[in-house]
Amino acid sequence: MQGLFSKREASMTGPMIRIAPSLLSADFAKLGSEIRALDESGADWIHIDIMDGHFVPNITIGPGVVRALRPVTNLPFDVHLMAAPVDNLIPRFAEAGADLITVHQEAGPHLHRSLQLIKSLGKKAGVSINPSTSAETLRFVMDSVDLILVMTVNPGFGGQSFIENQIEKIRTVKKMIVASERPIHLEVDGGVNRKNVAQITEAGADVIVAGTATFRGGPDCYRDNICQLRGA
Ligand code: DX5
Ligand code: ZN
Repeated sequence: MQGLFSKREASMTGPMIRIAPSLLSADFAKLGSEIRALDESGADWIHIDIMDGHFVPNITIGPGVVRALRPVTNLPFDVHLMAAPVDNLIPRFAEAGADLITVHQEAGPHLHRSLQLIKSLGKKAGVSINPSTSAETLRFVMDSVDLILVMTVNPGFGGQSFIENQIEKIRTVKKMIVASERPIHLEVDGGVNRKNVAQITEAGADVIVAGTATFRGGPDCYRDNICQLRGA
């Protein structure tokens, strides 16, 4: 698949697995150097989890931190908004330097409007579904999205266990993407590790979010951890 980000992924074409480390497992006192280390260790995208203490119980960071981190790397910023309401936040993260903005299907009644807003700001648009949400809920936004994010844990925290029955959903979403004939990425987020990643990519995922599995062992291990996830 052609890379989403023509400038930032100029050389990336063809079917490949992209590894998107989740900053949630980084050392929050050193976010700049953590991103630099991920960049030097072969990460493809930086996955940034935004939690509002309302849609999910946890709270993470706001647009000011994303803006401060933007000059640190040229890697695409993949911003996962776990927030409701969400439309008020979209322009702020777009301005802060997000390349791709993902909203939750469950965040409100006007998903189509949220996706149009992201597009109108010149950003790639993603939609995420929680473990209890059916793939069928995405049927009428297939023409509006650049990425579908299947949550394989309940959003809110890193370090949870992969929910096995989501493999069937990944397969279903993959079929929907093929049928759409559009270049939509299929991203999987939550509980991914070196043992289950092959099963996840075989089911159709092409973007792998990994928090715990990327950061284990500290910066000296990031390269090996990313290589193992990529199946290299
Ligand atoms: C969970 C977040 C994930 C999380 C993944 O709500 O969306 O991105 O950080 O962490 P691991 O890989 O540890 O499950
Ligand atoms: Zn996430």
